[in-house]
Amino acid sequence: MNKQHMETFLLPADEAGIAQAVKLLQHGEVVAVPTETVYGLAANAMDDNAVAKIFTAKGRPQDNPLIAHICSMEMLPQLAENIPDSAVKLAKQFWPGPLTMVLPCTQQVADGVTAGLKTVGVRMPQHAVALSVIRQAGFPLAAPSANLSGSPSPTTAAHVMQDMYGRIPLVLDGGASTVGLESTVLSLVDEPVILRPGYITAEQIENVLGCPVTFAQALNAPLVQGQKPQSPGMKYRHYAPNAQITIVKGNLDAFIQYVSAFVEEGTWALCFEGEQGKLPLPCVSYGSYKQPETQAAALFGALRLLDAKGAKYVFARCPDETGVGIAVYNRLLRAAGFRVVET
Ligand code: TXA
Ligand code: MG
Repeated sequence: MNKQHMETFLLPADEAGIAQAVKLLQHGEVVAVPTETVYGLAANAMDDNAVAKIFTAKGRPQDNPLIAHICSMEMLPQLAENIPDSAVKLAKQFWPGPLTMVLPCTQQVADGVTAGLKTVGVRMPQHAVALSVIRQAGFPLAAPSANLSGSPSPTTAAHVMQDMYGRIPLVLDGGASTVGLESTVLSLVDEPVILRPGYITAEQIENVLGCPVTFAQALNAPLVQGQKPQSPGMKYRHYAPNAQITIVKGNLDAFIQYVSAFVEEGTWALCFEGEQGKLPLPCVSYGSYKQPETQAAALFGALRLLDAKGAKYVFARCPDETGVGIAVYNRLLRAAGFRVVET
């Protein structure tokens, strides 16, 4: 079927919807499914042809590996081997949940999942629908976020429909993702290194492992020329709306003073709840300043809303870079193409 003319069905994630998704997956098709982090674009992680369809639907660069999702520890040996004790400990504590572990991979994993690396990223999602789809399908599901490559990740089925309509046969609607940001990616191939910050924080991981966990170098800075990223995903433009975003660091008063010079048509603010009335610009809010979890849940939706409003330039309030705020800042920084001003 011609991809442009494929009809995309949107079904509630009830028993019938899940059965339809499982049938399509077993026939090597791609289906969007809800998880607690963001919606995923899923296909059989052991089937090269099925995985290739994910890259086509997303327009994803071929050298960026995918995360494989499992529903039980019994599924893990299909994907990973020489599993370190640290991984078992972390799985006990955080799975199902928003933690992806990069482990040595088996031969059976489809090449597209690993993008030619000798490792595979694995996670067990904490979402009844995702777990049920994997269990009924009977194989691990490769699933990147279900957005077009480069766009903000989808946290609702409507976001997925915006990006994937005509590109995949089915979207399962399981309501809004509660976490709202992609999983923490932790490499356990060598010393533990966080390749992507997320809802599970470095401190939480350190508490389980009893040893220090470092962050990959290029996390919150652009790669310099010739630098090789520790995770291929770091290379690419990410999470970006059409609008040009600038992060303005400093307190609310400094923010107001700074943006006052730019009050014109098409200029918006991305602020925290309760700040709207104080700003000289039209605004969209993304959670409360004191609660980074609420920012995580709201950020991607807010970026999509700014596009829907026709925003051309956006000045964003900066989250506090602690705990989950580190992950929120990481996504916002990429959405802003690393444009940051200090006040
Ligand atoms: O929360 C999530 O993780 C979501 C949901 C759907 O589960 N999935 C997701 O997948 O965010 P994706 O493909 O958008 O992001 C995968 C990230 C990329 O930055 C990729 O480079 C990195 O994980 N990654 C995957 N496998 C890797 C590997 N073997 N080595 C290093 N990095 C890897
Ligand atoms: Mg993604």
